[in-house]
Amino acid sequence: MTQTSSASAPRSTSRPLLQTLFAQRAQAVIPSPFGAEIPGAVPVVTSFTFGLADPRLFPKADLARATAEVLAEDGDNALNYGGTFAGLIDVVLQLMRDRGVEAQPENLLIGYGSGQILGLLPQVFVEPGDVVIVEGPTFMGAVSRFAAAGARLISIPVDGEGMVVDRLEEVLRDLARQGIRPRFVYTIPTFQNPKGCTLSGPRRQKLVQLAAEYGVVVVEDEAYYDLRFAGDPLPSLAALDREGWVLHVGTFSKIVVPGVRVGWACGHPEIIRRLEMFRSEGSLGPFLGRVVARYCGEGRLQSHIQLLTRRYREKCQVMLEAIAQYFPPEVKVEAPGGGFFVWCELPPSLSASTLLQATRALGVTFLPGTHCFADGQGEHALRLAFSYQPEERIVSGIQIIGEQLHRLIHSCASGAEQQGKELSKSMDP
Ligand SMILES: Cc1ncc(COP(=O)(O)O)c(C=O)c1O
Repeated sequence: MTQTSSASAPRSTSRPLLQTLFAQRAQAVIPSPFGAEIPGAVPVVTSFTFGLADPRLFPKADLARATAEVLAEDGDNALNYGGTFAGLIDVVLQLMRDRGVEAQPENLLIGYGSGQILGLLPQVFVEPGDVVIVEGPTFMGAVSRFAAAGARLISIPVDGEGMVVDRLEEVLRDLARQGIRPRFVYTIPTFQNPKGCTLSGPRRQKLVQLAAEYGVVVVEDEAYYDLRFAGDPLPSLAALDREGWVLHVGTFSKIVVPGVRVGWACGHPEIIRRLEMFRSEGSLGPFLGRVVARYCGEGRLQSHIQLLTRRYREKCQVMLEAIAQYFPPEVKVEAPGGGFFVWCELPPSLSASTLLQATRALGVTFLPGTHCFADGQGEHALRLAFSYQPEERIVSGIQIIGEQLHRLIHSCASGAEQQGKELSKSMDP
C-alpha cells in the first residue's frame, strides 16, 4: 500500500511573529468588505456594486481573429521576450491625438491597466506624510494606494461641474503659506467615478493654470473619456497644459475589455521614465500588445466605441427611468453624461449602510458612498453601476431598492413623529 503524504497549507505560523516581518506599508492592508460571500447569506442576485463591463458587449470573435492573425503572422516575436509593441504605441498616440494631445513615444508608458500605473504614482512621488490632493468622492481603488504609501490625503468637493477648483485654490494657497507643496492632485475630469459629472471648460482652464502657478502635478484619470452619451468632448487637461504638469492616464478596459489589462500614462518624459523604473516586469507583454493593436486596427476600435456608447446610454436611461418610477422624491439623482455610474444622495435621516443591509437581504447590492471618500464622508450617498446588469435586472433591482427606501423613509418619519409625541407629552403640565 502506498502512503501519500500531503502537506497541509501553512496556516499555523504564529501571526504576531509573521507580522513583524512585514514592511510598515504592508501592515495596513485592509481586507475588502466585498470579497468573500457571507456563509448562509442570501445570494446576491443583482449587484450594482462594481463597475464591471457588460459581457454581452465583449468583441470575442474579433479578439479571437486578432489573436489568430498575430500568432500566424508574427508568432515568433509575439511569444518571445521583447519591448512594448510599436504598433500599440501608435494606437495610443492616435488616441491621445483624438484627445487633443500631440505626444511622442517618450511621453508614453503602457502598462497592465491604468490601475497599475496609478499604483506606481506613490513610488515616484510620495514620502510618508506628503500631501496628495484628491476629489471627494473619488475612485478609492487608486486613492487607497496613495494612502497605503503614507500620503496625507486632502479631499476637494465635487459638484455638478466636477472638482470645485476654487476650493482647490484656497487649499493650495493655505498649504503654500505653511510651506507645503502637494505632490499631486488626482482628478477624474470626465464622467467622474462615482458622480458621473464632468469638469466644466472654465474649471479645466483654471486647474491647469493652478498646476503651473503652484508647481503641482495634476494626474487626470480619463478612464471613461470615450463613453460619452451626447455632445462634444471637452479638451483634456493634457491638451490645455503647456508646461508638462499634467499626467494623463487612459485605459483600454472601458473601450475594449477590462480583461486585456492594458492602460497608459502620457506626460512629461521625466515622469514617464521614473514610473518605468518601478515596473518590475519591464515592458508590456509582446503578445498582448500585438493582439490589442491588431484588434484596434481598421477602424474597429472606433466602431466598437460607438456600439458601447449607444448600449451604455440605453442602460443608463433604463436605470434613470426606473429610479424616477420607484425611488421616493427625497432621493437626489443627477443624470451622468457618460461612464458607468449613477450617484444618489439620500435624505440626511437615512444611511446608505442601513439601506444596503435591507436590500442585501433581498439579493440586491450597491456601493455605499463611504467607500468613495478618503475622509469618511458619504454616509448618505450611494453609487449604482448600470454597466453590468441586463436591463430587466436593472429595473427589478431598482424597484427593490426603491421599496426599501420608501419603507425606511416612512419608518424614519413615523419614528420622528412618535418621538415628537413623546416629547410633547413629557412637556405636558
Ligand atoms: C476612474 C478609474 N480609473 C482607473 C480604473 C482602473 O482601470 P484599469 O482596468 O485600466 O486598471 C477604474 C476602474 O474601474 C476607474 O474607475
